[in-house]
Amino acid sequence: MLKTTLRSFATLAVVAAAASAQAADVKVGMVLPLSGPFAAYGEQIERGARLYIAEHGDTVAGRKLVLITKDDTGVAPAVSKRQAQNLLIQDKVDVLAGFGLTPSAFAVAPLATETRTPMVVMNAATSAITTKSDYIVRTSMTLPQVTAPIATWALNNGIKSVYTVVADYGPGHDAEAQFKKTFTAGGGTIVGESRTPVKTPDFAPFLQRAKDAKPDAVFLFIPAGEQGVAFAKGFKERGLDRAGIRLIATGDLTDEDVLDAMGDAAVGVITSFHYSQAHDSPENQAYVSAYLKAHPGKDHRPNFMSVAGYDGMHLIYEALKKTGGDASGDTFIAAAKGMRWTSPRGPVSIDPATRDIVQNVYIRKVERVGDQLQNVEFDKIADFKDPGKE
Ligand code: PHB
Repeated sequence: MLKTTLRSFATLAVVAAAASAQAADVKVGMVLPLSGPFAAYGEQIERGARLYIAEHGDTVAGRKLVLITKDDTGVAPAVSKRQAQNLLIQDKVDVLAGFGLTPSAFAVAPLATETRTPMVVMNAATSAITTKSDYIVRTSMTLPQVTAPIATWALNNGIKSVYTVVADYGPGHDAEAQFKKTFTAGGGTIVGESRTPVKTPDFAPFLQRAKDAKPDAVFLFIPAGEQGVAFAKGFKERGLDRAGIRLIATGDLTDEDVLDAMGDAAVGVITSFHYSQAHDSPENQAYVSAYLKAHPGKDHRPNFMSVAGYDGMHLIYEALKKTGGDASGDTFIAAAKGMRWTSPRGPVSIDPATRDIVQNVYIRKVERVGDQLQNVEFDKIADFKDPGKE
């Protein structure tokens, strides 16, 4: 009798274990800046990801998808690494995701490799990030990818000399190198260059140096956010525009999140970028209205980071569907390679060779549309790959 009871307990335990293995949640752990000067990045990426889950249901390939977020506070690689370790060891996540800033992605890449965990980068945009682990796939952009088109636009629009100003870290160095490469190859001249501190820069001395160099235009990359407001306003206040100098930039500058705060200083600025709230497509109209419905306050507007979070979640869902719910690193990444879909930004795909996103890059001009400033697209470079890896 005791034997039979024990045997049936054992059978029950086996059955229960098998059932729980089958139905085990798939856990996605996001490392994001949710406090500090870059908190808006985390909020936007998380909003995009959660919007996708709300629209598509939280079950994928028979498994319940659970999203866990951890705050890395911004440019703090040691914190990013510790939070990723917590996610892997305590929460036992299947997929790492998020990554607002380059130092955070660089810090976590070795953990993805060691644990063979897929790592979906949803903002950090230094070209080399995807080369740091075979388990990384990126749904945002790279700086060379969004920089080369504005250099070509400048060449085609009578700009012969440029002063470059970039944030002094990975994405800034990438933007500077690509701008120089494309612009000088087309016959343009770089008359000066400055690198500004990543945290709380005072732009006054750089603006003055740029003005004194008398270029046709200043090319700028700084991480999206309040810094851009300070730069655009300083550009006007110091009279660079009255001196006939144009301001051109990657779209990080005119991010919808800060565009209204920039006000008149932004009007007419030309940028190149992969996403605009004003992108005219049915997918984007649906995205923007769903975002605004979910977040009716005026604290944020749908922007490129929210879209990268949304698309990152799309990639996770579609990869899991293809693998029948298997999130193990090699299987998951194989499923992500070559994936194609229509994002709110336009058609995109994952380059199987680099695991980076291939997408349209648009040339846009800031204009007043109704009661808001918008990045109005007027030209595009279709299906553009990251030139930083060539
Ligand atoms: C980055 O740290 O890689 C980064 C941050 C903000 C941007 C673009 C890139 O707007």
